[in-house]
This record gives sequence, structure tokens and C-alpha cells, in this order.
Amino acid sequence: MTSELLIGISELSTNDPEHGGLLGRLADAAVVIDDDAIAWVGRAVDAPAADRRSDLGGRAVLPGWVDSHTHLIFAGDRSEEFEYRMAGHAYQAGGIRTTVRATTDASDEQLRASLAERRAVARSNGTTWMEVKTGYGLDVTQEARLARLAAEVTPDVTFLGAHVVPPDSDADDYVALVTGEMLDAVRPYARWIDVFCERGAFGPEHSRAVLEAGRAAGLGLRVHGNQLGEGDGVRLAVELGAASVDHCNHLTARDIEALGSSSTVATLLPACDLSTREPFPPARELIEAGATIALASNGNPGTSNTTSMAFCVATAVLQMRLTIEEAVWAATAGGARALRRNEGVSPIGAIMPGYRADLHVIDAPSVSHFAYRPGMDLTFGVWEAGARVR
Ligand code: NIG
Repeated sequence: MTSELLIGISELSTNDPEHGGLLGRLADAAVVIDDDAIAWVGRAVDAPAADRRSDLGGRAVLPGWVDSHTHLIFAGDRSEEFEYRMAGHAYQAGGIRTTVRATTDASDEQLRASLAERRAVARSNGTTWMEVKTGYGLDVTQEARLARLAAEVTPDVTFLGAHVVPPDSDADDYVALVTGEMLDAVRPYARWIDVFCERGAFGPEHSRAVLEAGRAAGLGLRVHGNQLGEGDGVRLAVELGAASVDHCNHLTARDIEALGSSSTVATLLPACDLSTREPFPPARELIEAGATIALASNGNPGTSNTTSMAFCVATAVLQMRLTIEEAVWAATAGGARALRRNEGVSPIGAIMPGYRADLHVIDAPSVSHFAYRPGMDLTFGVWEAGARVR
């Protein structure tokens, strides 16, 4: 076992409420890493000795970003669709089928290489944990292939066969396939099942059938809900005990109340909201109601072609009126909760003894700089499971 002492930390955001505030920020701090885990956290003057010592030169340190919502296994480009949308047209979920065609035509090697490249870029920007969804296959062979390739980069693979109904398919027949043969084929690679519960995608009965079949197969539940209009996504997610309901742009007072008194995390996707020009979710109302919020990139070729969690944090602060503390917490500890990885063996999302040593060092004295200097590349160093990766 090798240990490393990190000193020269101007501000350490631990996410440990014992240190005060939501982020548990400590000034003039130090951290000791033992192999892949955090072993000690405290003031630099009290730090124990270690095998190695790294001086971070007065920079701020926070947990690595936990990106709990991505669709990063895909091929192709939809910049024309984006340009058309920016000219004033509404987002159509039908664009998903364009990516399905390009993805189906790509080889395993092409998909593996592009996913690895996207993962590497995200890592170099401070993302140390990532969920990846299928959903650009929409048949048994393709969905199983996407899940298998996604499982090479993350244990948090989500089966999203219920993304849209493929062209020329009947919705009832397609849901029967998703909940039967497709689920069986994807199951070995997936931890989660998800459904796009939205007008134009899957209605409440079909969504319930998908989620219940996934649960019966041992998968955890996630829902895309209330993105393009009010609907049944949040209600269903809360009723079925989903880990997370994602998007949440169009919520009724009842949806907010339901999220406030449930353990279902509301995952907000600010980069997507900008790109689709949907109204931002009522983040303040959700927080005031007691809901747990996560921020994620929603990296995908249609509605959010970015993996920059720093951009999401800045947008959440500047546009959605989250405080700096709320936004940074939501993009780290919130993401860990949305993936139910904040406890158990090797938990993530905090800098506390026993947690996986995922650290993000920024070239700034404080996390406030994410919103104070939006759009700047602040990342100076990244430790993932105790190893320096940038
Ligand atoms: O989360 N809402 C559904 N799925 C994606 C969009 C995927 C696409 O348009 O390709 C989302 O925004």
C-alpha cells in the first residue's frame, strides 16, 4: 500500500457536513490517500506523514465530478439539426433516429474508440465517474452491443431501449420487445433501466411496463421525465422509487411536493436546457421543498453535446439561481446519490476517509471560480481512484 499526502490546498470542499455548510469547506487543508481511498482529511498543520508528498501550490480541491446522466455511446453528428433549432425551431425527439442510423452503421471499434475519447476528455475536465445509457440501438442486437461496449468504461450502464419507438414499429409491440427479449439480452451488462416518459416517446402505461419489467429483472430505475411538457414522469418515478428522474423542466406544484418528500433525486441538465431552449427547471422551488438535486451533462449528440460539468455548474448558478455550494454539491455528492453510490463499498462524491480517492484540483483558490470565471478551463489536476490521471 502506498500513501500520498496532498498539501498546499487553499480550500478543500469535502462534502462532509461536519466541517460546516453544504460543501464542508476547509481552509489550509491536507488529504492523505492510501492506494485508491481517502485515508485522512484535515488541517495541513495536523497532517500525518506519508510515503509521498505533493504540494498543490495553494489551489482548491473538490471531489471529482459525478456525471450521472450521459448518452455517450453513439456515432454521427447532428449539428445541422442543432443549427435549424437555433434558427427558432423546436427540439423534436425524432432526431434520435438519425443517431440510431449512424450508430448502427458504426463498427465496435469505432464506437469503442469514440466512447473512450469522450471519457478521456471528460476525465481531463474533472469527471471521475460517469453513467452511460444505451438508447441509440433500438433493436435487440444493437442495444446489447451498446450495453456491452458501455460496460467497458463504467459499471453504471443504463438500458434505455425505451428511448423512442423505432420507425414503422407499433408501440405495444416495441414495448413487448423492450420488456422481453431486449431486456434479457442487455441485462448482463446493465445496472439500470430508464424510459423516456414523454408525449412523442412513451406514455405512462408503457413507461410503467418498462420500469416494472426492469425492476423484476433486478435493475434499478431511472426516468427521463417532464422535459418537453408536463406529464407523468415524475409521478411514476416517485411512485416506483426510482433513483432519479431527469430533466424536470415542466413540473406542477404536486410534482415538486412529491420530489420534496421522496428519495428520488431530481437530476437537472442545464446544458441540455440551453440547447433545447426549454425553460430551466424550478431548481429553487425543488430545493426549498426538500428535494435532492443532481447536476449532470446529458452528453449526447442531439440535445447536449458536451461533457463539461464545469459549464453545467456555472449555468446552474448563473441561470438557475443555485448557490455555488448547491451547484458544486449537486454535481458531485448529488450525482453520487442519483447513482446510489454515496454509501457502501468504495463510495464516491465526497472527500472523506473511506471514500474512493477521486479528486479535482483547480487552478483557483475557491470553487466559486467555476461561476465567477465561466467558460475557463480551471482544471489543474485529477486523481481517480488514487491515481493521478491529469
Ligand atoms: O436526454 N430526452 C431524451 N434523450 C436525450 C436526447 C437524445 C437525442 O436527442 O439524441 C436527452 O435529451
